[in-house]
Amino acid sequence: MDTIAVIKARRSIRRYRSVAVPNAVLTDLIDCARLAPTGYNSQPWIFVVVTDPAVRGQIADIARYGSFIRQAGACIAVFARSDTETYVEDSCAATENIIIAAGAYGLGTCWVNAYRKSHSQAIEKLLGAPADYELVTLLAVGYPDEEKKTAKKPLTDVLRWNHFDGTDANA
Ligand SMILES: Cc1cc2nc3c(=O)[nH]c(=O)nc-3n(C[C@H](O)[C@H](O)[C@H](O)COP(=O)(O)O)c2cc1C
Repeated sequence: MDTIAVIKARRSIRRYRSVAVPNAVLTDLIDCARLAPTGYNSQPWIFVVVTDPAVRGQIADIARYGSFIRQAGACIAVFARSDTETYVEDSCAATENIIIAAGAYGLGTCWVNAYRKSHSQAIEKLLGAPADYELVTLLAVGYPDEEKKTAKKPLTDVLRWNHFDGTDANA
């Protein structure tokens, strides 16, 4: 699929087929992640790819609203050095790169709330994160076992040209 089609077709997937995601594909997802833009080119991140079903099961138990991580082929935890100015934005940019690249590989994903949540420290500890790294995002990644058409606001509701009041591109 071309990039625009992947972006437009993407929806959060919470049901996965029990098929492993090849390590080469997961490696390429992280290669795409590491090329995302970062403030001051700081690249403050470490990406932990969890394929071990036992560890995924533990994360699924810990992460609130992330139980489907157990069924997904992999879970990707994005950590970043919290002493950098833009580590949250950087991590989110990398996460979206993973989501789009995963879509191009026919994989589904779901972002799981993980930044400074009640379960964040337990996941940091489980995955052995050093004290200067913080968990920013958590993603389930796997082959979809559902089709989603989650409703979106129409383009005309959210696009303004040149000014908050501008609805006409040619005005
Ligand atoms: C920052 C963030 C946190 C999210 N956390 C969760 C979560 O913990 N569990 C979950 O099932 N979905 C989570 N989602 C997915 C959203 O529920 C989903 O993106 C939203 O409902 C829109 O649906 P769509 O992704 O299919 O367009 C999260 C998404 C974002 C961007």
